[in-house]
Amino acid sequence: MTILPIRTYGDPVLNQATQPVENIDGKLAALAEAMIETMYRAPGVGLAANQVGIQKRLFVYDAGEGPFVVVNPEIVESDGEWTFEEGCLSVPGLSWEITRPNAVHLKGFDLDGNEIDLEVDEYEGRVFQHEMDHLNGILLVERLDDDQRRAAKRALRKVRLSNEMVDDGLHLLLGE
Ligand code: NI
Repeated sequence: MTILPIRTYGDPVLNQATQPVENIDGKLAALAEAMIETMYRAPGVGLAANQVGIQKRLFVYDAGEGPFVVVNPEIVESDGEWTFEEGCLSVPGLSWEITRPNAVHLKGFDLDGNEIDLEVDEYEGRVFQHEMDHLNGILLVERLDDDQRRAAKRALRKVRLSNEMVDDGLHLLLGE
């Protein structure tokens, strides 16, 4: 079992767009497996590759019937509007009511290279949009409205500070 460290708010990899996967091979399958184990351990319902520091376009999810892997995903159509309380493993312990399109049409590939073509709404649609945002370098906190952002600022500072303390601790351990 491989559990990967999940990058959190303040880590620059979360704000960098990811690159398309060129080869769907055993190496990618091993990464996806580790991401699934990491997601379940967290626990979470979705995890994008850049959340574990890999700048590639794939995410894993389990909205109740998974786990599933989507490689090179794209949302080709979206429709409606739905408000739902959303959290993120990279912004631990916090959640906000976010309004996004309700239904989405997602295309991509599975680990066998077969095409995925899914039309989903509500919870599963939300998971897809959240993970797509990650792959495009967009964190949940960038979806907040002005009022939410003001309230979030303090809480986010704490998340960032605890990251820095972890980093400082690592540097001390490593003698840097
Ligand atoms: Ni997230």
